[in-house]
Amino acid sequence: MKIAIVEGPLLDRIGSREPDVYGNFSRKEMIRSLNGEAEKSGIELVFLSSYIEGDLAKLIVNCDADGMIINPGAYTHTSLLLRDALLCWGKPFIEAHFSNVFAREIFREKSYISDISSGFVAGFSENTYKIALEGLTALIKRDNKIHGKT
Ligand code: DQA
Repeated sequence: MKIAIVEGPLLDRIGSREPDVYGNFSRKEMIRSLNGEAEKSGIELVFLSSYIEGDLAKLIVNCDADGMIINPGAYTHTSLLLRDALLCWGKPFIEAHFSNVFAREIFREKSYISDISSGFVAGFSENTYKIALEGLTALIKRDNKIHGKT
């Protein structure tokens, strides 16, 4: 199984950016640990990112993976384009945020992608993607079973 982790702008700064909000941790270590978990379960991870909305849309529609964990950063709250790209892609995805967006400014409560996602994970800092990965792989396995693929 292949899972893509797609990130929008400023997420490469997580771990040091606004540590009170997102947590203070090594991003390199977070990715190392995530890759370790994936490997144990026989999952291949691909990491895709851009600061540019149109480029993210292209990455999404061209993504060769069975599922996606996506953290669009600020584009979560503004981007109809990313919503359309995810609908066009048509495979299961989890919306993931390092911070609890519902415990912050009111404008962060609006997401253009939550209602079309298979699941939502927020507020678990460096463990966010790990939790999302566990949930997403379980969903994909369940769907494959229902459709007789495994
Ligand atoms: C974020 C939350 C967004 O509101 C914010 O714009 C980000 C990061 C998160 O991971 O908590 O850039 O997506």
